[in-house]
Amino acid sequence: MKIAMFSTKSYDATYFDRANRDLGHEITYFEPRLLESTVSLAIGFPAVCAFVNDRLNAPVLTKLFEGGTRLIALRSAGFNHVDLEAADELGLTVARVPAYSPHAVAEHAVAMILSLNRKLARAHNRVREANFSLEGLLGFDLNGKTVGVVGTGKIGRLFAGIMRGFGCRVLAYDPFPHPEVEAIGSYVPLATLFNESDIVSLHCPLTPETHHLIDDEAVARMKPGTMLINTSRGALVDTLAVIEGLKSGRIGHLGLDVYEEEENLFFQDLSDRVIQDDVFSRLLTFPNVLVTGHQAFFTAEAVTAIAETTLANATAFEDGTGTLHRVTADKLA
Ligand code: NAI
Repeated sequence: MKIAMFSTKSYDATYFDRANRDLGHEITYFEPRLLESTVSLAIGFPAVCAFVNDRLNAPVLTKLFEGGTRLIALRSAGFNHVDLEAADELGLTVARVPAYSPHAVAEHAVAMILSLNRKLARAHNRVREANFSLEGLLGFDLNGKTVGVVGTGKIGRLFAGIMRGFGCRVLAYDPFPHPEVEAIGSYVPLATLFNESDIVSLHCPLTPETHHLIDDEAVARMKPGTMLINTSRGALVDTLAVIEGLKSGRIGHLGLDVYEEEENLFFQDLSDRVIQDDVFSRLLTFPNVLVTGHQAFFTAEAVTAIAETTLANATAFEDGTGTLHRVTADKLA
């Protein structure tokens, strides 16, 4: 199948070419993001492969449909960037990669916790300058601390298990409790989780219901000095509310792999440009904030699985063999 891939980086081409060796899809790699201004690149391609910061709104989907596209193969689990109602109305099939490596994301969340707690970035920079002072590097034992896990799907469950291994008490919130988590911790109402946790980690999807789940009210409920980790989706967090929380000390550490306005920042080298986003720039001024650029998924295992499942979706769409992981406005496959 002829596939136009947007937002392509060198590693995408490496892993997709490898996964495509025996499949015979014709992949054309485009570096730009999929936007109103770039959608014409997809004319004549029956399939488009998109990533998390491509814009799949109604005007873009309409242009894709008019250009002959029938399959949108997302190379991500999240699909909050697609107007599914518009896709359904147009008759476009949207497929995603429901799971690639939940370990990758769970482990990155833990890496952020350890790194913030033990101030690894600061310590490393100091040692490079021959400054071996320990002032300002004091951490805390994870053993015995309470960790609140919001969303106990594939990633949240693994994360809860790892934290239990550190000797933490696990509290969880999810509309659909899972026995694996019940065996190692307790489900509690969200307000209780915020009240009692030393570390809060977000692993739920972004939906209208979870948009700004962490707002002023949630921050006010947290224990002073709470560590907040978000490896899920940026808009779960009201950034201005957490900045106020950092200033007041209610939030003692903040780890973000995702950011509400990340689409114009992440996945590109902007090191010789002036960052125009003042809220993001303010975040970077705090000594107790760690930001990574949406890299939690980025392991060799995950990238291999993403390429294989995305191309399997294309094959399933084209000739009906195998599983098509379809998403529609009212159901997931
Ligand atoms: P999943 O679908 O297995 O689990 C999501 C869980 O959230 C489910 O148990 C669901 O019941 C729960 N949930 C739904 N609404 C909720 C609410 N209002 N409050 C609490 N829990 C709620 O998804 P998975 O694979 O565990 O992924 C979680 C999220 O991680 C994804 O939605 C995605 O946004 C994010 N993600 C981030 C990546 C990164 O590189 N930073 C990579 C992959 C996923």
